[in-house]
Amino acid sequence: MGIQFDEKQRIFHLQGKATSYVIQLERDGYVTHQYWGRKIRKFRNSNRQQYIDRSFSPNPYYRDRTFSLDNLPQEYPQYGNSDFRKPAYHIQLENGSTVTDLRYKSHRIYSGKPKLTALPATYAGQADAETLELVMQDEYLGLEVQLLYTVFSNYDVVTRSVQFHNKGKQKLKLLQASSVSVDFRRSDFDMLTFPGAWGKERHMEKRSLQAGIQSAESTRGASSHQQHPFIGLMEKHTTEDYGEVFGFHLVYSGNFLAQAEVDQFATTRVTLGINPFDFSWLLEPGATFQTPEAVLVYSSKGLGAMSDTLHRFYQQHLVRGEHKDKERPILINNWEATYFDFDADKIEQIAKAGSELGIELFVLDDGWFRNRNSDSTSLGDWFVDKKKLPNGLEDVAKRVNDFGMQFGLWLEPEMVSVDSELYREHPDWCLHVPDRYRTESRDQLVLDFSRADVRKEIIKRVSDILSSAPIGYVKWDMNRHLSEVGSASLPAERQRETAHRHMLGVYEVMEMLTSRFPHILFESCSGGGGRYDPGILYYMPQTWTSDNTDAVSRLKIQYATSLLYPVASMGSHVSDVPNHQVHRSTSLTMRGDVAMAGNLGYELDLTRLSKEEKQVVSQQIEFYKEIRSLVQFGQFYRLKSPFEGNETAWMFVNEDKSEAYVCYYRVLAEPAAPLAVLRVKGLDLSKDYSVWGTDEVYSGEELEYSGIRIPTALKGDFVSHTWYLRTE
Ligand code: DGJ
Repeated sequence: MGIQFDEKQRIFHLQGKATSYVIQLERDGYVTHQYWGRKIRKFRNSNRQQYIDRSFSPNPYYRDRTFSLDNLPQEYPQYGNSDFRKPAYHIQLENGSTVTDLRYKSHRIYSGKPKLTALPATYAGQADAETLELVMQDEYLGLEVQLLYTVFSNYDVVTRSVQFHNKGKQKLKLLQASSVSVDFRRSDFDMLTFPGAWGKERHMEKRSLQAGIQSAESTRGASSHQQHPFIGLMEKHTTEDYGEVFGFHLVYSGNFLAQAEVDQFATTRVTLGINPFDFSWLLEPGATFQTPEAVLVYSSKGLGAMSDTLHRFYQQHLVRGEHKDKERPILINNWEATYFDFDADKIEQIAKAGSELGIELFVLDDGWFRNRNSDSTSLGDWFVDKKKLPNGLEDVAKRVNDFGMQFGLWLEPEMVSVDSELYREHPDWCLHVPDRYRTESRDQLVLDFSRADVRKEIIKRVSDILSSAPIGYVKWDMNRHLSEVGSASLPAERQRETAHRHMLGVYEVMEMLTSRFPHILFESCSGGGGRYDPGILYYMPQTWTSDNTDAVSRLKIQYATSLLYPVASMGSHVSDVPNHQVHRSTSLTMRGDVAMAGNLGYELDLTRLSKEEKQVVSQQIEFYKEIRSLVQFGQFYRLKSPFEGNETAWMFVNEDKSEAYVCYYRVLAEPAAPLAVLRVKGLDLSKDYSVWGTDEVYSGEELEYSGIRIPTALKGDFVSHTWYLRTE
C-alpha cells in the first residue's frame, strides 16, 4: 500500500487495499489520469495514452496536431485552451477573461492525512493512510492549485480535495471549484443516483449513460431530500455481488453538483463538488480556498462490497466522538404521540410507560419552548415554556431520569420564526436580499450563519439550554431550504459566497456545540433525512432517516440508504397506525421488524397501547437488546430489493460469524405466489447454526447454497419474518 512516484515513467501510483489509482505527468506538466480500478502491483503503462490528430480538437502551444487536451484524460481539467468538456474549475481574472493554464509544479508524499480547514472530512492516523499533495500552477497568474489525494491501507477508497492559493497580485474570482474530476476512457456504464422527496428519501435510480451530460444536483442550500451528493458508475449488469463500481460521494451538506459527461469519443468525465450555480468566491492576493472532500470508493465485486467499504470506512474514519462505537439507546419520542399538545405530566406518563417496556431514552420533541404551540412561531427563542413545563427542563429531565432513562431534547438552531422575539429584535439576522420579500417556509426563515454575531448568539442560547438540565441526547432539526440567499454582512462582490459561507457557519456551530457537550449523543434531522450526508455524519453519528415511519415505505428508504451509510447511523422508529404520513395500517410485528433493522425507537403514545400490544413491544425491546450490537455494528448484506419486487430481505452478521440476524418482508399477498426461498450470505460455511426460538439446526453451507424456506404461514399483506442464527 501507499503512494509511489516512478521518476522514470513520471507516474504516481496510489495503492489502497485492493485498488490502484494512477496519475501521469504528461509533457509540459499536464497532469493526466491513467488508471483507477483493481490493484495492479507493477504498473508499467500497457495502455498508455494515445495521441491522435482529431478534427476540431485544437493544439495548445504546439504545432503538434496529435496533442490536444480535448483527447486527454485529466486529473483537474481547465477551461479555455483546447478541452471542450466541462472543466473542474473556472476562474475570472481582473480583466474579465476566464482562461487559466495549470501545469505540474511540485509534489510531496507523506504518511497520514491533513485536516481540512473549517470543513468536515475523513481522518486517519499516521499508519492508516498516505497522502499526495500535487501542486499545479498557473505561472502567469501566480495561482497555485494543490490537489490532495489520500489512500487508506485497509480500504478501497481514495479521498480528494483541492486548495486554491492566490500567490499573485490580482484579485481572482472562483466561479467553480470542484472537489474531484475523473476521466474514464469508456462510457459503457450505468449511473447510480439517489433522488427522492420529503418522506421518500434516497430512492435509488439506475440509468444507462448517454452522450452529453447527466447530473444530480442541489440548489436548495442543503444536500436535500430531493437529490443526494453521490454519483456511481457501474459496469453494465452490476448486482450486489458482481461488477465494477466507481462511487463518488461528497463530504458536504450544501449545494452540490455531481455530473457525468460522455463526450464525442465515448469517454466519461465525472465531476463532483460545490454547485457552481449562483456560487462565486473572491480570492484576494494571499488568500486560500479549500473545497470540500470527495470520497472515491471502488468495488470489483458489486454494490455489496461498495457498501461494506463505505460502512466500515465512515464508521472508522468519519464518525467521531464518544458515541462512535457505542451501542445506541432505544428511544421513545413524543412527536407523533402529542405533537405540540403536552405538559410535564403527560411527558412523565409516556416516559413511565416507556421505562416499563425497557426503553432507555426519552426524547422531548418540538414544542417545549416559549409560545411554541404550533409550527408557526418562536424558533430562535430557546427559552423553556413555563406554561407547559412550569418547573423547567431540569424537572422534566429529573422525572425521566428517575425512571432510569436518559433525557433528550429537540432543537432547530439554524432557524428563526417570523413570529419570534429573536426576529423582532434582529430582522437582518436571516438570509435575505435587499428590497425583496423574504419567502417563508413553515412560517420560518433561515438564520444567516455566515455572520459571526448570529453564530455567537445561537451558540450561547443553545449552550445555556444544554447546560440547564441533564441532557444526554439532542435531535438537531432543520425544516426548510434556503431562499433569497444573501447576507446583510457581505459586500456586493461577495454575495454569491453566502450559501457556502452559511454552510461553513453551520459546521462551525456544530463543531463548537458537539465538542462543548461531548457526552451528548447528537442525531441529525432535516424533516427526516433531508440532510443525511457525510458532512453531517462527521459531527453527528446518527440521522433520523425519514419522517415517513410507514413500515412499507421504510423498506425502500432504508434499503437505499444502506447502499451508502452504516446501519448505526440510521434512526428507525415504530409509530402508530394508521400511519400519520401515508395512512397505511401494518402490524406491530412488521413495524418492529423494519425498525429493528436500524437504531430502534418508538414514536407513539405508549400510554394508549393495549395489554397485548405492550407485550409485543416489550418482547421487541428485549430481543433488540440481544441483537443490537449485531445490527448496529455487524456486516450488512442486502438479499432482496424492494425496488425490484414485492419482497425485501437483508441480514446482519457479526465479526466472527457466530451470529446472524436475517429479515424478510413481503408487501402484498399474491395469488399463485412463487415458492419463496431466501439464500443468505456471509455465514461461516464450516459451522452449524441453530435458529433461535426453534429446535432447528442447519449448516452455514446449507443456508447459503440451498437457502432458508419462507414460512407458508405468512399470510395477507404487509408481513415479515426474521431468523436469529447462532453457531452451535
Ligand atoms: C421534523 C422532524 O423530522 C420531525 O421528526 C419532528 O421533529 C418535527 N420536525 C418537529 O417540528
